Amino acid sequence: MITPQTIEQIKNRIDIIDVIGEYVKLKKRGSNYLGLCPFHNEKTPSFTVSPAKELYKCFGCGKSGNTITFLMEHDKMSYVEALKFLANRYNIEIEETESTPEQKIVQQAADSLYIINNFATKIFDEKLFDSEEGQSIALSYLKERGFREEVIKKFQIGYNPNQKNELANALIQHQFNKDFLLKSGLVALRNENELVDNYRGRIIFPIHNNSGKIIGFGARIIGKNDKAPKYINTPENEIYIKSKVLYGSYFARLAIDKADECLLVEGYTDVVSLHQAGIENVVASGGTSLTIDQLRLIKKYSNNLTIIYDGDAAGVKAALRGLDMALEESLNVKLVLIPDKEDPDSYVNKVGATAFKEFIAVNKKDFIIFQLEVMLKEAGNDVTSKSNVVNQIAETLSKINKAEDFTKQQDYIKQCSVLLKIDETGLTNLVNKYKRDKIVKDEKKLPFEEADYFHQQSKQPEDVLDENVFLLNQDEAHERNVMRVLLENGLKNWDDQKTMAQYIFEELEAFHFENTQLENLYNTYRKQYEQGLQPDAKSFLYNDDENIRSLVVSITMFPHELSLKWDEVLEGMHITNRDTSQQDVLMSVNYFKLKKIKKMFEENQRDMEHADFDEQMRLIEIHKNLKEIEKEITRQLGTVIMK
Ligand code: UTP
Ligand code: MN
Repeated sequence: MITPQTIEQIKNRIDIIDVIGEYVKLKKRGSNYLGLCPFHNEKTPSFTVSPAKELYKCFGCGKSGNTITFLMEHDKMSYVEALKFLANRYNIEIEETESTPEQKIVQQAADSLYIINNFATKIFDEKLFDSEEGQSIALSYLKERGFREEVIKKFQIGYNPNQKNELANALIQHQFNKDFLLKSGLVALRNENELVDNYRGRIIFPIHNNSGKIIGFGARIIGKNDKAPKYINTPENEIYIKSKVLYGSYFARLAIDKADECLLVEGYTDVVSLHQAGIENVVASGGTSLTIDQLRLIKKYSNNLTIIYDGDAAGVKAALRGLDMALEESLNVKLVLIPDKEDPDSYVNKVGATAFKEFIAVNKKDFIIFQLEVMLKEAGNDVTSKSNVVNQIAETLSKINKAEDFTKQQDYIKQCSVLLKIDETGLTNLVNKYKRDKIVKDEKKLPFEEADYFHQQSKQPEDVLDENVFLLNQDEAHERNVMRVLLENGLKNWDDQKTMAQYIFEELEAFHFENTQLENLYNTYRKQYEQGLQPDAKSFLYNDDENIRSLVVSITMFPHELSLKWDEVLEGMHITNRDTSQQDVLMSVNYFKLKKIKKMFEENQRDMEHADFDEQMRLIEIHKNLKEIEKEITRQLGTVIMK
């Protein structure tokens, strides 16, 4: 881990205009800078960078963040890579902290597994090209299938001889730790402590992570054999987490970026063959349905996903299962089915690269429309089945719910209503009903950002949506607002005794946050403050917890309407030339308390209904006390307004 001191140094040196200015031509506009957004195509600039807040936001596509997230998004760096990049740029020496014992163990395991995998890959390579067995059994098989040496070398494909323990012995000779060897899946335990090769007589496809390190293997049996599984894959371990891997992503990254399209196939051999044919923007899922992590991996490079599967039912069903998630991630999904029991590998070998590309271009079908056609065909003339189809498609369409996808959704509604032969307005209403249902269901557990986003969205199709549904849970609005003033003003002086942060801590001592994310942020702030650090909105943007970073961006970049109303009140009092932060803090804290006290009243009321006489007397006392506190708070608020 990079030390907080180093991060602090980097943070102090960062000039957001300087860094982003290398990618985007920025023009000064008032206190901000404006340019063409690098994240979406636009002709008039809506990408705004605020040097004071050290943030950027595009009002076209909604992307926002700080210097670090910019590098992460734009150059696909990891958090640590971005920090290192900046340190290097500003000549800052990086200090790393000792990791915890647990982190060390995981790190050690990972390091060892990488070394073992690398070592094994070299042996597999030698065995394929330089041993007689490899050449006559494996290399000849690969060549027969049409793979040329160039592509075999590129993907580091190899061979594990059909011997009991050739690899195992080499590994033992190099004194690798036995536990790690077993974890790697390359060997298995026999007769208590004998290690034997796990992938005997198999062709080996190394699996690379995004930076090209080998994290695991797929081992294919040679030829046909009904008794053994066709492929054996690496078991999950510290570096191989199946749900996060897409085979070929390392080799496809640049091509996906360039083509702005990611092709998805099922198998290892499909990826390799397409590469050989010059189609390089391709990754494989390994024949299972896509996970959310895999979709996000794709989305890092492109919003356009084209799934190319065999025409058999199983593959298509598997693919369909990932659809709703893909829509929620705003991916545009197309589907192509390969005909005649072929798969992409065999088909490209049969028809050649040009015809293959043409086939894909011509037969690419929108996934939602495809799904609708399949369902309609299955439903036939049955009225109930057809109405199920209408509901299902409406639910699917309701998943397209990012604000920027609004027109896309409308297009779909149009197309689908034609196919379903139903009225467009009816389908619109149904889609909106599903949206509302989901919001009502999610409302309680909604993190703020999303709540805000729904709030914004409610303003678009004015007529159909019931505004009330989108109203934020007001308790959270006040919690969020207190957090905002803490981040913005905490370090300023309240009076000559204490800072605003200290004032807030004292005032809120008896209260707690209901939103756990906010509570966590509040406590983290307090801890840092008490350790003598100087926490503020900016310093949190360098926190290594992504949730905290995005929460802070959303709190400070999109202050909730409450604080906007504050501004109106304050402005109305003609005090805008003065620093209004103290009033802001006072109002935020007091409204927060009022809200909590109102809640206590309600709880008290509820208890009252079931209480016996003594208990009722006690509750009445509490009620009176609460009333007193309430009066005091309103009085204070009144003074602010009067001042
Ligand atoms: P396929 O059976 O379509 O194999 O499985 P393939 O990739 O076309 O291989 P060839 O062309 O017959 O040599 C598709 C993918 O499903 C996973 C593998 O990732 C495979 O590439 N799979 C398949 C397994 O993990 N285990 C198996 O036993 C079979
Ligand atoms: Mn195949």
